[in-house]
Amino acid sequence: MQIDEFVKLAKTRRSIRKFRPDPIPDGCIEKMIDAARFAQSGANAQSWEFIVVKDRATRDKITDLVIESKKYTWDIEKTRLEEIRHPGFAHGRQGEPVSSFREAPVFIVVCGDPRTVQATVLISQFLNNEGGPFAHFLKNIGNATQILQLAAAACGLGAQWVSINSTIEARLKTLLDVPVELSIHTVVPIGYPAYTPAPAYRREVNEITHYEKYDRSKYRSGDDICNFLVNLRKKTIPAYPGKPGQKV
Ligand SMILES: Cc1cc2nc3c(=O)[nH]c(=O)nc-3n(C[C@H](O)[C@H](O)[C@H](O)COP(=O)(O)O)c2cc1C
Repeated sequence: MQIDEFVKLAKTRRSIRKFRPDPIPDGCIEKMIDAARFAQSGANAQSWEFIVVKDRATRDKITDLVIESKKYTWDIEKTRLEEIRHPGFAHGRQGEPVSSFREAPVFIVVCGDPRTVQATVLISQFLNNEGGPFAHFLKNIGNATQILQLAAAACGLGAQWVSINSTIEARLKTLLDVPVELSIHTVVPIGYPAYTPAPAYRREVNEITHYEKYDRSKYRSGDDICNFLVNLRKKTIPAYPGKPGQKV
């Protein structure tokens, strides 16, 4: 693959949040996981494991748990000013609609084994400057999840990145019989998109690139960041399905 093809893949991959139920070609999931296992990880710890869920009843239970977690998310999110709330919770929306990713024919549940973080230098367990003891571990899992998403796009499929928070993680582990030492981070529904996503919004290359040292003319004040967030919402709300006022 040449660089232009790679940039095109990076730019055209989009989060898909509503899927057609059509089955996906055999072998795609295994190719995606084959790619994801080559993600970078601190000292090659390879902290990830993947559970491929095709069973309809299990997918429904996972979806229902995620919907339940949105209620907790909404409780916190509604304390923020409306104009900077997460786009899934803007305009009175209280989370993604029930049908949003339920129909995806395959879910990949991304698990991690925190014990593997011992692969890397011990100092990473003690210093907070990289985000605390589990920062390396979480970066490892994030890198593998990113490759899954790119690989899905390369297969012509859509994928979502559904974060799993601690309000449902224990029940998800029980449902999927995940050993106590492991954690669940993300569910990645995979399938054919049921819609054409809105164009991607990203800051321009020249806004975020500094040569040789930080270019202070590009520094953003606190007010600039607030304005950025308000304008970001205007650009990204269309990426989330659902009507104003819709509840999960
Ligand atoms: C750490 C992380 C957590 C995310 N959590 C969610 C999530 O819970 N639900 C969701 O729909 N998208 C989630 N996303 C996807 C982002 O919202 C998405 O990548 C971003 O808005 C850019 O849109 P794009 O993926 O279409 O380019 C997450 C992405 C990351 C990296």
